[in-house]
Amino acid sequence: MRRLIFLIPCLFFIHCKEQTPLPTGLVAEKAMVVSAREEASKIGVAIMEKGGNVFDAMVATEMALAVAYPFAGNLGGGGFMVYRKADGEVGALDYREKAPLSAHADMYLDSLGNVIPNMSTVGATAVGVPGTVAGIMEVHQKFGSLPLEVILNPVIALAKKGVVVTEKQAKRIANYQEKFIEVNGDSTKFAQGFKAGDTIKYAKLALTLDKIKKEGRDGFYKGEIAQKLASFIQDKGGFITEEDLAKYEAKWRYPVQFNYKDLKIISMSPPSSGGVTMNQIFKMMEPYDVKSYGHNSVQTVQLFTEAARRAYADRNYFLGDPDFVAIPLDVILTDAYLQERMSNFSFDKATLSSEVSHGEVEIIESMETTHYSIVDAQGNAISATTTLNGAYGSKLYNAELGFFLNNEMDDFSAKPGVPNMFGLIGAEANSIEAEKRMLSSMTPTIVEKDGKLWIVVGTPGGSTIITAVAQTILNAYEFDMSMQAAVNAPRFHHQWLPDMVIFEPDGFSDALKADLMEKGYNINENRTPIIGKVDAIRILPDGRLEGGADKRGDDTAVGY
Ligand code: GLY
Repeated sequence: MRRLIFLIPCLFFIHCKEQTPLPTGLVAEKAMVVSAREEASKIGVAIMEKGGNVFDAMVATEMALAVAYPFAGNLGGGGFMVYRKADGEVGALDYREKAPLSAHADMYLDSLGNVIPNMSTVGATAVGVPGTVAGIMEVHQKFGSLPLEVILNPVIALAKKGVVVTEKQAKRIANYQEKFIEVNGDSTKFAQGFKAGDTIKYAKLALTLDKIKKEGRDGFYKGEIAQKLASFIQDKGGFITEEDLAKYEAKWRYPVQFNYKDLKIISMSPPSSGGVTMNQIFKMMEPYDVKSYGHNSVQTVQLFTEAARRAYADRNYFLGDPDFVAIPLDVILTDAYLQERMSNFSFDKATLSSEVSHGEVEIIESMETTHYSIVDAQGNAISATTTLNGAYGSKLYNAELGFFLNNEMDDFSAKPGVPNMFGLIGAEANSIEAEKRMLSSMTPTIVEKDGKLWIVVGTPGGSTIITAVAQTILNAYEFDMSMQAAVNAPRFHHQWLPDMVIFEPDGFSDALKADLMEKGYNINENRTPIIGKVDAIRILPDGRLEGGADKRGDDTAVGY
């Protein structure tokens, strides 16, 4: 009998091990936030411990990232959020920046029709109308349960008390110090070098947040702040007016939803390309027995690469702001279309991108975005990705209001067919028009398994966002990894053009690369040191939550 009692938990353990990988990340009983900074994750979790729901925690976390992670967290940028409520209802919010009213297709071209260097990337001319404050206010108004004051007070306290600089942050600030001075002058806040361990206080940002707390959306988009912001940007040569700010609205969208084997994947719809491109990649892979190929094996890398090659070709050609362009989703997401796209795929040799293309369309986007995932004690989930586009956006810092402004105008194609500063060559669908939203790669995603919430996931990484999210889901589903292991695993990327597979350093053998080269793949290991910083949460079979906080950054899971 004693032996039997001993055996039962063992059998249960073995059974569980086969069915569900044991967690290796932080495990929490009820609720969790995983974000780029511990301070932001803690504030989001504290809001839920006070009785707030996942949407209250989103408002707190997004604003705490604006304080603790000015590299990408923001008041001067925009983002996307996908939610799934405990009852299965899903939705998506688009708080992407948009072009000002004065914008037009040629605004970044000189009299000869050439792209003017830096104009869409650095300083006031690069700034799109910010959407973040409208986004969080929309979320709070529709789904929030706690008063704004309760949610924002801890964020304001953090801004006043200050945030301790990490090693990674000190390096980032040092990297951009010259640019900060070039754009803002040498008395700008970030002109002084900060060392790891220093504390940066954000008194002006605290005042701006206080105004938003008291006056809500209009406290930012109308009145004193809007007037100060518009004149500041215009004085520096930019285009945003008070009318642009007053007219900005976040928009509720239907998320992209599709099945992959027995998963249901819910992700961001246009003007993000994330959900559509990931849908195409997964559907092109679905007929194959991916599990049997093994994680990051030659076959898995080939299959993923060939699906991504074809999906990114479509992404660049077809996608743009759905309020301005007709996107043929009813064709490009069908099984018949995607099977046809893969009909010339063979494990014997690489397909050349020139054989796949819709035109000379290349994307290389900047990598500096940030993502956070949240699940509350009731089982509601949100997945949100937010950005200034480049590191510290346009580098333009409004000292009076205490925040950086985006350079999101560079995500448009300044001139279809010609590369922008990041090498982006866009298509007509993403050309600039007044009040249009620029195409994004941000891919906040939620995954259901057997009809239940399973994974909440997303990442920064520009055009690599889509592949990093897809590979994290495949790692957990096909290769039975824990959430933390799925996030940690080395990643690779292909985006049609340039026609090369990019591998993260360490984790891919020379033999694997030689084998791929033999089959005709171009390999580039130098283009980017890391691919994404994924922050994810997995719901374990017993209802507890496992965090996957990317070791590539200062990312931290906090839960209770
Ligand atoms: N700015 C990066 C993105 O939206 O994908």
